[in-house]
Amino acid sequence: MRIEVFFSPASVDELGMRGRNVIVIDVLRASSTICTALRNGAREVIPTPDIESATKISANLSGDSRLLGGERQGKKIDGFDLGNSPFEYTPDKVSGKTVIFTTTNGAGAIYRCRYASMALVGTFVNISSIVETIAGIGGTWTILCSGRQGAFSVEDATCAGMMISLIKISTEVETDDAGLTSVILYKNFKRDILGMLKKSAHGKYLTSIGFAEDLKYCADIDSVPVLPMLDGTGIKLKSKETLVSQDKTSES
Ligand code: MLT
Repeated sequence: MRIEVFFSPASVDELGMRGRNVIVIDVLRASSTICTALRNGAREVIPTPDIESATKISANLSGDSRLLGGERQGKKIDGFDLGNSPFEYTPDKVSGKTVIFTTTNGAGAIYRCRYASMALVGTFVNISSIVETIAGIGGTWTILCSGRQGAFSVEDATCAGMMISLIKISTEVETDDAGLTSVILYKNFKRDILGMLKKSAHGKYLTSIGFAEDLKYCADIDSVPVLPMLDGTGIKLKSKETLVSQDKTSES
């Protein structure tokens, strides 16, 4: 298997992502919130690159079946129903709803993968579901870290390193320099993932605006064991068995 890592979406556009099998990571907090929304019954999460597109899509959907969610500077956007804290995405709020979602880095990174062959949303809370699925499919994968404002973020790179390290337990993995660096980061932080999040720039920022509990939630390995995949314009839950067998069928 081969796994390439991009530390930020800044160096790739949607055409660069075309035809790839991708995992998009935004540990703090978009990936963790998407996993939670879908686990709690949201029908789909539609990632959008900006507030204008989100409100336009929302205006075209029937009022009681959709919610607008997301953040700017970590805080709920004026006029939106929900922010970007996973704790807001409770079953009573999201069950049966389409969530139209825009965040500073993560939602845009996922949107950028709309021409990918397969785009999965991964983070610490669903890491085993991701690793088992991509190990079952094999081939070449790209891990796209959402990063922070177009730059590197330690939490996404460490999560990428954990994915590669877990796959390496059962399968031979070839990787690039960014992948090697990610594995070193994971080895360094693996005994204290929450401590790493607390030291990260975005972790410090979220703590300063009152979201310290979100860091604990996002550090909780395999606590939301779902498999979200971009399917058309929306992110939906899939099963590992379906994705692995689908891929084998498309090969034959
Ligand atoms: C993002 O997409 O930039 C993040 O999820 C920001 C946040 O923590 O809300």
